[in-house]
This record gives sequence, C-alpha cells and structure tokens, in this order.
Amino acid sequence: MTVRSVVLGCGSYLPQRILTNAELATRVDTSDEWIVQRTGIRQRHIAAEGECTSHLAINAARAALADAAVDAQSIDLIVLATSTPDNTFPATAVAVQNGLEIHHGAAFDLQAVCSGFIFALATADNFLRTGAYKRALVIGAETFSRILDWNDRGTCVLFGDGAGAIVLEAQTQPGKSSDRGVLTTHLRSDGRHKSKLYVDGGPSSTQTVGHLRMEGREVFKHAVGMITDVIVDAFNATGLTADDLDWFVPHQANKRIIDASAHKLHIVPQKVVLTVDQHGNTSAASIPLALSVAVKDGRIKKGDLVLLEAMGGGFTWGSALLRW
Ligand code: UT7
Repeated sequence: MTVRSVVLGCGSYLPQRILTNAELATRVDTSDEWIVQRTGIRQRHIAAEGECTSHLAINAARAALADAAVDAQSIDLIVLATSTPDNTFPATAVAVQNGLEIHHGAAFDLQAVCSGFIFALATADNFLRTGAYKRALVIGAETFSRILDWNDRGTCVLFGDGAGAIVLEAQTQPGKSSDRGVLTTHLRSDGRHKSKLYVDGGPSSTQTVGHLRMEGREVFKHAVGMITDVIVDAFNATGLTADDLDWFVPHQANKRIIDASAHKLHIVPQKVVLTVDQHGNTSAASIPLALSVAVKDGRIKKGDLVLLEAMGGGFTWGSALLRW
C-alpha cells in the first residue's frame, strides 16, 4: 500500500473580456493569419482593471472545491503557481487562503513561470505523501497582460490571463500503476537559459515590475527536446507507455510545439487536449484551465491516465503522470 495524491475535482476561471487576433492587429503590425499559423492562438482573455491574480485564483479554487464537493475548511495546504503575483509580497496564495476564509494550514506561492503548475503539483504531491497535509488546493493563476509590452508584436500576441485549480487528497492506494492519483512527477531547471525568457524588472534589480522579453525562436528550439525528455522519464518511472495514455494535457504555449511533441512521443492527436486557440498562453494557468475544459466536456473521466507537461522561463520543465 502507498499514499497517493488523488484529484477530487478541478475548476477554472477566465476573465470576461476576450481579445481577438483581429483586434490585436489594429494595435501592432500583425495579422490573424500570422498568429494562427505560427501559434494556433485565435483569442485570449484579459483581466479587467482592478481584477488581480488572486481574484482569478479564488474563483478557480471555488469552482474546484464545488466540483470536488468538499468544504474549503477541509483544505490544509494551498500551493499557488504564478509569475504575476498581486504584490511582491505577501504571497498571492495567502490572499486566496483569506478569500476562502481558511485560517489554518499553509499557503505559499511557487514561481517556475510556465512550468509552475507542474512544479506546484509535484510539491503538493510530496507534502501529501509524507502525511504533512491531507487535502491541498493546487492553483495556477496569471495576469500576464500586466507584464506584456503591448508594442512588442513578438510577445504581446502570445499570452492571456486566467486561472485553474485542482483539489488533491492523500489516499491510500494499492501501490500499482493502476492506482488513482499522481503516479510520478519529474522536474528540471537549467539557469543557463535564464535570459531567453525573462521579465526585465523586479524588486531587487530595478524596483519596477518590468516587461516580458523572449527570444521566441530560441525557446522554440529547446522546447520539444526538453518536453519529450521528462515525458520519457515519466514512462520509465512507471513502466507505462504512450499507448496507455487516455489524455495528453500539455502546457498551451504554441500548437506547433504541442503537435511536434505529441508526434515525437507517438501520441495520437485524438488524445491531445488543446485550448491554446481559445486561451493563448496563460503560463502557470494553462494546464489546469485545459484540464477543466476536458473534464467539463466529458473527455477526462475517473480512472483515465492523464499526462501533463510544461516548459518555460528559466528554463524550467517538467512532467506529471496521474490517474484521474
Ligand atoms: O510558454 C513559455 C514558453 N514559450 C514558448 O513556448 C514560445 C516559444 N516560441 C514560439 O512559440 C515561437 O518562436 C513564436 C510564436 C514566438 C514565433 O514564431 P517563429 O516561427 O519562431 O517566428 P520568428 O520569431 O522566427 O519570426 C518570424 C518572422 C520575423 O520576421 P522576419 O525576421 O522573418 O522578417 C518576425 O519579425 O515573423 C515576424 N513576427 C511577426 N509577424 C507578424 C514576429 N512576431 C510577429 C507577429 N506578427 N506577431
């Protein structure tokens, strides 16, 4: 027997305002055709004035708690992945904890940019498996619209705002690959690439918030190799293969990266959950947003084998294999 972190429910929240490619083309020298062809993105959601990352996260967390049919008071751990916190400190997770009227347990932020949700999931999973906590909210929430340079067509067309969350519970399982819950996680970082995707501001360096800067082609070049490496690690750790998968829910940065990764791993397109067209790249929020879509529309069901992966600034990258 072993302790596994089992998903009890998931939920998401998207700001009301939708920004289309056509509207963006009126602001910068771009076109719907270029954006769709190079990225697969058709639209993204943008937070309203005064709507912060914590607001999106609280809404997503409430939806996840309702889906799980558990009370907020039963949560004793909140791990929130974000690169766009409400404030430099305290952690946005604390604002979420307070918003949910939870005043016990622990809540903290985790920063791994687009890989944030995988890093947060792995962190919560490890805390649950040691017995330190019993029930966790793992949240990815971002307001990237606040750190974009809206004059830089190379980046401003790519990102969007949103939040997604899952509720995880420590449960005793037989200890087999047929168990429900998180079966394995694999995290990697390599700071040699830190200047390829970064924000040119921060409290200690410039005392400003700064704007996102990216050498897109450089990131693209490394993405598929890094993603597939950590997925092979997940297969090797569990003895499972691409054929065993029910769903592949990748970080939604670029459809071309997702297609190339799935192709390299022999994952058929029918098993790939794609939301990049509707959400753009929502960084740490993209995976739980995609999970939420696929659960709501009935694709992901209890007992399904689900593979998650992400790669982003740092570089950071990681995978998680779980049975829903
Ligand atoms: O989630 C975190 C990880 N981030 C990513 O995974 C992003 C990875 N990178 C990418 O997705 C792609 O590199 C981009 C979508 C950012 C760019 O696609 P690309 O095929 O690598 O294009 P490129 O950067 O090589 O640019 C090709 C051309 C350039 O013009 P020239 O030099 O060929 O004349 C750019 O100036 O496209 C131009 N361009 C644009 N044209 C119209 C760049 N951005 C735009 C734009 N609209 N928005």
